[in-house]
Amino acid sequence: MRLFENIALVTGAAGGIGRAVALCFAKEGAVVIASDNNAKGCAETLALLEQQGGCGCSVVADVTKEEEICLLYRHIRERYGRVDIVVNIAGGDCEPSADIEEIDYLKMSANLDLNLKSCMLSCREAARLMKPQGFGKIVNMSSLVYRGSPNQFSYSAAKGGIYAFTRSLALSLGRYGITANALAPALVEVPAFVAALGQERWEMLRKECAQRYPLGRVATPDDVARCALFLASDDAAFITGQILEISGGARL
Ligand SMILES: NC(=O)c1ccc[n+]([C@@H]2O[C@H](COP(=O)([O-])OP(=O)(O)OC[C@H]3O[C@@H](n4cnc5c(N)ncnc54)[C@H](O)[C@@H]3O)[C@@H](O)[C@H]2O)c1
Repeated sequence: MRLFENIALVTGAAGGIGRAVALCFAKEGAVVIASDNNAKGCAETLALLEQQGGCGCSVVADVTKEEEICLLYRHIRERYGRVDIVVNIAGGDCEPSADIEEIDYLKMSANLDLNLKSCMLSCREAARLMKPQGFGKIVNMSSLVYRGSPNQFSYSAAKGGIYAFTRSLALSLGRYGITANALAPALVEVPAFVAALGQERWEMLRKECAQRYPLGRVATPDDVARCALFLASDDAAFITGQILEISGGARL
């Protein structure tokens, strides 16, 4: 077991990728704090995790609200006294497909709040726990659009910001035994996409991407979970400040 008795917070744990990460970490022996603002989904993830013999708890928190992030970490401090791993996955694109002339102030703010500021605040709270314990692994969810993406201006800016922020974290926290890295998946097949687009449009998108990606398919949530596991485990003990592209070779 690669994460035996590690205390691991996973945000976005009700979602496609977050759930896969929570289940994967639990299988590897971690005690998982599954957090999301979707209470039902969060409880379902915990139930699945327990069914497979894992343990942990679920905590409902909206990561766009500073006070809820603080309460989440207070819960962790009071219940476990430490946190070994933090994987910040909660996020999503609040302004998909807008021309630059059309980008909207409220939607761009929502993208920065949900993807970037939430991650920064969670890492602030994580650092407050991890620095005194002299150990920690932070894994932040960027996206391949960190390289830039036409019509995804605020989302790509937020995900690019996560990369810069993660490097800054690595620079300042390394001396405390804390690593910070980011994940950058290309398209991942998650139920939320299929639900939002409908089966037919999703299939078109999937086919179109699969043709462009050298490995000939889009990613699964498990592809991403295994990379999160690597960065959270001792196998990546000497890796920090990196972004790991999980892209099947897209955009090489
Ligand atoms: N699916 C992809 O193709 C893809 C590619 C690259 C990066 N990502 C990133 O991966 C992460 C997970 O996305 P996913 O594909 O699993 O989608 P998803 O919609 O299934 O998961 C997102 C989760 O975040 C939660 N969430 C949303 N707003 C929240 C809030 N304010 N507070 C707390 N939780 C909140 C949702 O309830 C959901 O459970 C996101 O950060 C996304 O930007 C996804």
